[in-house]
Amino acid sequence: MAANGKHSSDDNYLKEIRKDAKKRLYEYVAPKWAEDLRGKPKLKIDLFQKRTPILKWFLPQIPSDFEIYIKRDDLTGGAISGHKVRRLEFHLAEALATNCDTLIGYGCITSNNCRTLAVSGKELGFDVHLSLYKTLRLKKPSLSFIGNYYINMILGAHLYLSPESTESSSQKKQTELKQRLSVAGYSPYIVCSGQPGDVGLFGYIDCFEELITQGVTEKFSDLVLSCGSGLTAAGFIIGNYRNGGKLRLHAYSINRSEAELKKLISDLLKDVNFLPEDFSDERMSSLINIEEESSLSDYCVFTADHVEFVSETAKRTGILLDPNYTGKSAYHMVKKLQTAPETFQGKKILFYNTGSVISLMTETFCRAITGNGIMD
Ligand SMILES: Cc1ncc(COP(=O)(O)O)c(C=O)c1O
Repeated sequence: MAANGKHSSDDNYLKEIRKDAKKRLYEYVAPKWAEDLRGKPKLKIDLFQKRTPILKWFLPQIPSDFEIYIKRDDLTGGAISGHKVRRLEFHLAEALATNCDTLIGYGCITSNNCRTLAVSGKELGFDVHLSLYKTLRLKKPSLSFIGNYYINMILGAHLYLSPESTESSSQKKQTELKQRLSVAGYSPYIVCSGQPGDVGLFGYIDCFEELITQGVTEKFSDLVLSCGSGLTAAGFIIGNYRNGGKLRLHAYSINRSEAELKKLISDLLKDVNFLPEDFSDERMSSLINIEEESSLSDYCVFTADHVEFVSETAKRTGILLDPNYTGKSAYHMVKKLQTAPETFQGKKILFYNTGSVISLMTETFCRAITGNGIMD
């Protein structure tokens, strides 16, 4: 809509795209084991290539009695790869079904989630507004030299940088943006990012069902994943528990303390009525092994060891890891296998590669990899 309140030809053009996208909506049928969960979404839209492959991963420096496999969500093909597109199949279905025309997301300036939202949103004819915050380590980032930010710019997403540089300030800004856009005549939809009520959880319920059809619960002893909001972990906990709890899940927390992540996961699990009572630490530990270490949780900080690991993995195995998430968690997994192999339930481990290779094109990492500015 133009500033004078009249519809422009561009609005009509986008409306046509959304109208066409709406035809792709279909009724969501949850896996049997997840049918009773509260807040189950009604609709879904397909946005990526399903059933990403599981392949043997010849990571160097793994003790010889262990075997590592990789679940390749870097090959979703949806919104330039990664696992975030799984949750958007529910968010964007809801936004289309409720006749919204504008999406509002929030996240860190380097966010894979926001970039995935911008790409998928634009594909379906939405206008996209992103409320972003800088991390402490990126106080003076050259904005065009942050891969995800750059892609957001190319897509013409409206970008707002929070002056306070905190997650909560950019999250709060979503509500302000919603009010402002509603007054201007738009129909905005706030895209959750792991808060209770987030229908995106079902993206990982469906992902776990996909893992079951790929024989994962029978063939593997352990499953390792990187954690941010805890949404993926919550979906996997439900899937694993409801299907016999055969796998030992390991969640490596990238940007939060262990206690903070446990609380987020616990809130998500309570919200869908998976287990109604408060979670004790023991209960949570029986469902998932959560680990947090400074080497993991210093967001956008890459030590010489991380840089070497990501670079060697690329050279030796052809797998490009996201330096923040999968790069750090795969590095942590290798260290654990070398120093504390008893933390794993068995010897056959599946690493969930959540993708998002664009993060490799971020100033701090590029500087580090070219030997200019490695932080120890
Ligand atoms: C590549 C990648 N892996 C893992 C995660 C964490 O996923 P979740 O937010 O579901 O914990 C994120 C998002 O923050 C991510 O971008």
